[in-house]
Amino acid sequence: MSVSSSAVQSTLVENRVFEPSASTVAAARVSGMEAYHALCAEAERDYEGFWARLAREQLVWHKPFTQVLDESNKPFYKWFQDGELNASANCLDRHIGTPTEHKTAIIFEADDGTVTKVTYKELLAKVSQFANALKAMGVQKGDRVVIYMPMTIEGVVAMQACVRIGATHSVVFGGFSAKALQERIQDAGAVAVITANYQMRGGKELPLKAIVDEGLALGGCDSIKNVVVFQRTASPCNLVAGRDVLMHEVMAAQSSVCAPEMVGAEHPLFILYTSGSTGKPKGVQHSTGGYLLWARQTMDWTFDLQPNDVFWCTADIGWVTGHSYVAYGPLAAGATQIVFEGVPTFPHAGRFWQTIEKHRCTIFYTAPTAIRSLIKAAETDAKVHPKNWDLTSLRLLGSVGEPINPEAWMWYYRNIGGERCPVVDTFWQTETGGHMITPLPGATPLVPGSCTLPLPGISTAIVDEMGNDVANGQGGILVVKKPWPSMIRTIWGDPQRFKKSYFPEELKGYYLAGDGAVRSEDRGYFRITGRIDDVLNVSGHRMGTMEIESALVGKTDLVAEAAVVGRPDDLTGEAIVAFVVLKRPVPTGDEAKALATELRNWVAKEIGPIAKPKEIRFGENLPKTRSGKIMRRLLRSLAKGEAVTQDTSTLENPHILEQLAKSN
Ligand code: WTA
Repeated sequence: MSVSSSAVQSTLVENRVFEPSASTVAAARVSGMEAYHALCAEAERDYEGFWARLAREQLVWHKPFTQVLDESNKPFYKWFQDGELNASANCLDRHIGTPTEHKTAIIFEADDGTVTKVTYKELLAKVSQFANALKAMGVQKGDRVVIYMPMTIEGVVAMQACVRIGATHSVVFGGFSAKALQERIQDAGAVAVITANYQMRGGKELPLKAIVDEGLALGGCDSIKNVVVFQRTASPCNLVAGRDVLMHEVMAAQSSVCAPEMVGAEHPLFILYTSGSTGKPKGVQHSTGGYLLWARQTMDWTFDLQPNDVFWCTADIGWVTGHSYVAYGPLAAGATQIVFEGVPTFPHAGRFWQTIEKHRCTIFYTAPTAIRSLIKAAETDAKVHPKNWDLTSLRLLGSVGEPINPEAWMWYYRNIGGERCPVVDTFWQTETGGHMITPLPGATPLVPGSCTLPLPGISTAIVDEMGNDVANGQGGILVVKKPWPSMIRTIWGDPQRFKKSYFPEELKGYYLAGDGAVRSEDRGYFRITGRIDDVLNVSGHRMGTMEIESALVGKTDLVAEAAVVGRPDDLTGEAIVAFVVLKRPVPTGDEAKALATELRNWVAKEIGPIAKPKEIRFGENLPKTRSGKIMRRLLRSLAKGEAVTQDTSTLENPHILEQLAKSN
């Protein structure tokens, strides 16, 4: 495990500090650093008491818990175990009979700019109707349901309806391929798929249902009894008699009242597949009580949510950010939120800024990749520069998914936030359920490019490979020392892999995040320096190098061997570079270009377009040690176009370095 020295360097030189304004501090829920330290001290003094207090304050329990943390079977921690609740009741029913029931829950901004709004009361009715429809289909408590849907009100309804009846959902991002979908359906043993006929992206109608059909036809999905289709567009799609039903039709037949199914706090709320360091994606399993507590609590702490806020998280429901900060957190907090169907560049690259103005958005939460691409667009076309729109409604900005470089942070702070809005750079992961390290807007002095300090109760630290703390200023491995309520419970169907991946023995039982980090010497602020495993972060999306490699070698008529590495990219953070050995002589010129295109399309079909290598280089072999191990560090240098400075004396075949150094 190594930590990039360039990232360490930039921590040392970054010395701009932005203190929150006196008025922001005065108005904030966690007001000033003393308030932050007081919360941390409370957790330090009485860890279980601290979490129990939050869980009682933030959630509605059907049956109160008496136990807080059960550590009897480490690392399979249990929280609030004997308590009972329902997540959907905590997001919807709790607001009924309060002024929030008539408040807008979702402002849906469609790809073409059409706006649809639903209040909390209306959303509850829809969710209940659909929950009844699922029950009528035979979906039961504990069943898994795969959701493969676009960003729509119905996508949120589908998630909420599942958890209302105690079914565990597994949302698969609409950009994943038929094969990736099939693998997830099979691994989860799902009984139903909820999808849409098409999705709208950038003015184009893209099929979803056809991909579901293709995935199911690949086999191994006998557990699927029904496919429910939301008709997003008027275009017809294939419906298999006896299996496929239309969402609006099955809903129309049902009552809009459905009693929520109460479940134990540890009941699996959802499974979300993410990339790890082997070829097979991991089904990250989250609990109901602990997960929901943190989704709700971080709305108060990180976003300092106020009753009149218009919250907008741009993440898709196919990723964890879209779970915690679209489908659960904002609803549990009774917020009004924008759900956006489209892409940031359609019909023009000012769409985000225009949408903020249109709906008077106050809290905007997006990914550095989006910011970087919109900076580029604004610099090349004055018509899409944010200054063309009134962004004065904004009071808080957020960033998530990948490290934000200080230049992008400054642009965001100045041009979008008008030097008035704090920027919360939130570090977290699919596995952590919610924010871990982030500034608090009314307390933490901001340093561009730093996610600053852990939230109260979160015991992140930086250690060496033996689990010993390292000094500030020294890079190391990011860990979390104590269990926390919203942590991953297990990998679905693979508890051994869960233990091995996240709690390696040499790390003293700490949770291993998989990222490198360094704390600044002056403030102890954290800066994430990137993954230390074989996981890449491309445009904020996690991609396993092994996953892409196994897709490539799956093209058995063409590929003999493949190795995939990441290379820094100004726009996407990291870019995927694949080194490929073909079962034929090394191609050149047009032939190489054509084969590279063929392989890129193959990967898109196997995994999804997000996994397409940016570059493919061909060679007659890969650089290997005499024992046959691929020298990945060397490939990383080659991908970056750097001179190879590593020791190549153990390399069996040095001449191929020259071959692989060249782009096609
Ligand atoms: C990276 C997304 C730096 C990190 C919520 C982590 C970040 C992985 C940040 C998790 C941030 C996320 N600064 N890096 N603010 N946020 N990451 O599971 O490498 O899709 O391990 O969860 O993204 O990605 P995931």
